[in-house]
Amino acid sequence: MKLRFFLLVTVFLVGLDKSNSTSKNKFPDYFKFGAATASYQVEGAWNEDGKGENIWDHITHTNPTYVENEDNGDVACDSYHKYKEDVAMLKDLGVDYYRFSLSWSRILPYGVAGSPVNKLGIEYYRNLTQELLDNGIEPMVTLFHWDTPEPLQELGGWPNPEMEEHYAYYARTVFEQLGDLVKIWLTFNEPKQTCLEGYGKGVKAPAFTTTGMADYKCTHTLIKSHAKAYHIYDEEFKSKQGGRVGMVIDTVWFEPASGSEKDAEAAERAIQFTYGWYGNPIILENYPQVMIDRIDERSKQQGFAQSRLPKFSEEEVNYIKGTYDFVALNMYTANYAEWKEETDISDVGYDSDLNVHLFMDDSWEESASSWLRVVPWGLRKTVNWLSKTYNNPEIFITENGVSDRGGIDDPQRINFYREYLSNLVDAIVEDGVNVTRYTAWSLMDNFEWGSGYSEKFGLYSVDFSSPERTRTKKASADYYSQVISTRCLVDSCE
Ligand SMILES: *[C@@H]1O[C@H](CO)[C@@H](O)[C@H](O)[C@H]1NC(C)=O
Ligand SMILES: *[C@@H]1O[C@H](CO)[C@@H](O)[C@H](O)[C@H]1NC(C)=O
Repeated sequence: MKLRFFLLVTVFLVGLDKSNSTSKNKFPDYFKFGAATASYQVEGAWNEDGKGENIWDHITHTNPTYVENEDNGDVACDSYHKYKEDVAMLKDLGVDYYRFSLSWSRILPYGVAGSPVNKLGIEYYRNLTQELLDNGIEPMVTLFHWDTPEPLQELGGWPNPEMEEHYAYYARTVFEQLGDLVKIWLTFNEPKQTCLEGYGKGVKAPAFTTTGMADYKCTHTLIKSHAKAYHIYDEEFKSKQGGRVGMVIDTVWFEPASGSEKDAEAAERAIQFTYGWYGNPIILENYPQVMIDRIDERSKQQGFAQSRLPKFSEEEVNYIKGTYDFVALNMYTANYAEWKEETDISDVGYDSDLNVHLFMDDSWEESASSWLRVVPWGLRKTVNWLSKTYNNPEIFITENGVSDRGGIDDPQRINFYREYLSNLVDAIVEDGVNVTRYTAWSLMDNFEWGSGYSEKFGLYSVDFSSPERTRTKKASADYYSQVISTRCLVDSCE
């Protein structure tokens, strides 16, 4: 009786000590840590030094209530003027690299192929990049993080196949102007958000709602644009510049809602409709078969003369496949996936093409973002899925992080990073998954799209009410620095 009581108390106390569940494995020596931001979310200076208008400038100026509190990115963190402070923060964190994105409209104010280059735009990015290199921080550069030049949107935006030519011109310009300094290029960030949310569901600029059609056309053009940029780099720049190119694709982890075969099938279908939509054509070959089959079949039943999912020609399939030097993942959370009966065939849309019931567990810890609950084991499962599905590629985690409503003391964020990193190091050390980089989102609080400044993801806080946009280090930044320097999540690693 006494022994049982003692054991119970011990189990209870050990259970309270969170670090007990934390991995004692050490991140390998070659493993690199970074932090990320994106141009529209931090730069501000929306119309300075010759920058053109982009779709986020346009939507926030013409339809201010589109964003919570009528916030916009006109000034944001003012990184256009304060980039040296940003670099000093990165140096203080001790990160190996900084992931930031280029504003297409700052470099090409008109956006289109053949249009003039804004020298001051290039100068800004050369300044930022040089400042990083002078401080021993490697630049990792995203070409496109959702801020399409407005003139290109007026031509139809990503569903217009002409975008491939404009993007190719932009990519070549960037490789020419910055390629001597930058060795890691990310063509697109989370294209599913650009296409599905921007053209399908309307919850991101340019806020179109033609799901099941425009989102598929957008993706088709975007994948071809990626492949073209990859080949341009490979053929014209790689031998002299020696860099690498990949695409950042996001997914949540989809956990089968039960042990049934049907729920397992639903979960696999869901990840094929998210990561696979982009990953399959680039890493393997063509769209996932389950997407091709389901959308062909539903389109036929709906009376469309051809599938709503555009087809790649055989030549295109071969041009696109293999256009990656690494696999990149943005991952934050998980959903349960449950098989469901086919919905009304007259419903045209991505969700009904997918037809899986997705939900979150009420017991998962909440964040400030409704879509994001804390599910650390989802990261280990996702990287294992990538490794298995895509034949053990090198994987970069290009974003991972959590939101709150603000404050310098942020134990929830510390806990989030500890537990996700714990699952990641176990995936590397125990499961043999080849993950070589981890990027915290975000370096600092910034413009969180439709949520404005209300959801905060930063390791540093930014005072958006002050013209100085004063940055202050959070407790999580100290924690992240410590992890980077010790490469270990507990007091002492094995
Ligand atoms: C780039 O740096 C130089 C030297 O500090 C400065 O004079 C110039 O204004 C900067 N340009 C931009 C666009 O930030
Ligand atoms: C990870 O992938 C890279 C690139 O293919 C390779 O050089 C490296 O040896 C791999 N590392 C491990 C631990 O498999």
